[in-house]
Amino acid sequence: MHFSDIQRVPGDPILGLIEAYANDTNPNKFDLGVGVYKDAQGLTTIPRAVKLAEQRLVDKQLTKTYIGGHGEPRFGTLISQLVLGDNSPLLAARRVSATQTPGGTGALRLSGDFIAECLPGRGIWLSDPTWPIHETIFAKAGLKVSHYPYVDRENRLTVDAMLAAFETIPSGDVVLLHACCHNPTGFDLGHEDWKRVLEVVRRRNLLPLIDFAYQGFGDGLEEDAWAARLFAAELPELLITSSCSKNFGLYRERTGALIVCCADAEKSLDVRSQLSSIARNLWSNPPDHGAAVVAEILGDAELKQLWAEEVEEMRQRIAQLRSGLVQALTPLGLGQRFAHIAQQRGMFSYTGLNDDQVARLRHEHSVYMVNAGRANVAGIDATRLHALAAAIAAVC
Ligand code: LMR
Repeated sequence: MHFSDIQRVPGDPILGLIEAYANDTNPNKFDLGVGVYKDAQGLTTIPRAVKLAEQRLVDKQLTKTYIGGHGEPRFGTLISQLVLGDNSPLLAARRVSATQTPGGTGALRLSGDFIAECLPGRGIWLSDPTWPIHETIFAKAGLKVSHYPYVDRENRLTVDAMLAAFETIPSGDVVLLHACCHNPTGFDLGHEDWKRVLEVVRRRNLLPLIDFAYQGFGDGLEEDAWAARLFAAELPELLITSSCSKNFGLYRERTGALIVCCADAEKSLDVRSQLSSIARNLWSNPPDHGAAVVAEILGDAELKQLWAEEVEEMRQRIAQLRSGLVQALTPLGLGQRFAHIAQQRGMFSYTGLNDDQVARLRHEHSVYMVNAGRANVAGIDATRLHALAAAIAAVC
């Protein structure tokens, strides 16, 4: 037998919750697990702009032949503009290379292999905590993974401790930063904090990798790009991973990009050639459909406007759910304790609930959230905020 020594491994800490939730027969269950947006009806619908773009593609697309290692050039240009700004001087100077990837996760893996192959010996530093898959993606790419502090034991952002740790990171190492809507905590750096991070990154010659998976879900499409654009303007080199899963609702279409800012146009071509070779060995050509949809939307003023309105609608709804949950917890004497939920940004909240409380919420109240108390606020049913608050109060 060939497979007799293969052991079973535990399910993914996030995706495993999809199945557990589906199998729960309690009609009053709550899904605050995997990061998907749900509307007032509890559905993760396809945005109207995406539907319209798909309809156009059915008529327009004439071939399904390969699109090449970097994907569709039009998508690469448009997603770079969305991230860096329409008038970014880097784009005009051809300092930017964009590679279409299977989701933001694919972009992260591509960046991990790029660092391992082209910048050997560089370690990567992740926030503690971070998205659990960051840990494994870079380890599987062969990088040494280390951590810098981000939130303290009282569940507060610790910028001073973060910056103190940056002073000890070896020159040349990579630091992964979340552009906005930090996953899992929801705690974002303010503009002044970002400027301090930039200063130490530049002085200590660190290479930033900005993970940008939630553009538009924090303070707005343009506002959320502030830090990425600051770093792109101030530093000669930068890696950005962009995801279209959440803001375009294209989760299963696996649509993203690795955007690399280089010192000049020549170096950009060198880097690009390496990325093409690495991608060829990972997935050959990226999937097309989601990127074709995004290009159709971003390349058409009317569709883009509709899409931007839909993103804004989602963003406002998440903000309302945040304050609504705190309001529902207030009569239970927990408003102060959970006030941070209303201040955090994006889909996720590090609630401050511990693993024990998360387990009790799941087993006693059918409330599903990720360990360490991460709740997907964007999955809350607004009509049952009081029931959710009562369940939280019962385990506190
Ligand atoms: C999440 O963190 O829940 C999302 O980014 C989905 C995923 O792939 O884990």
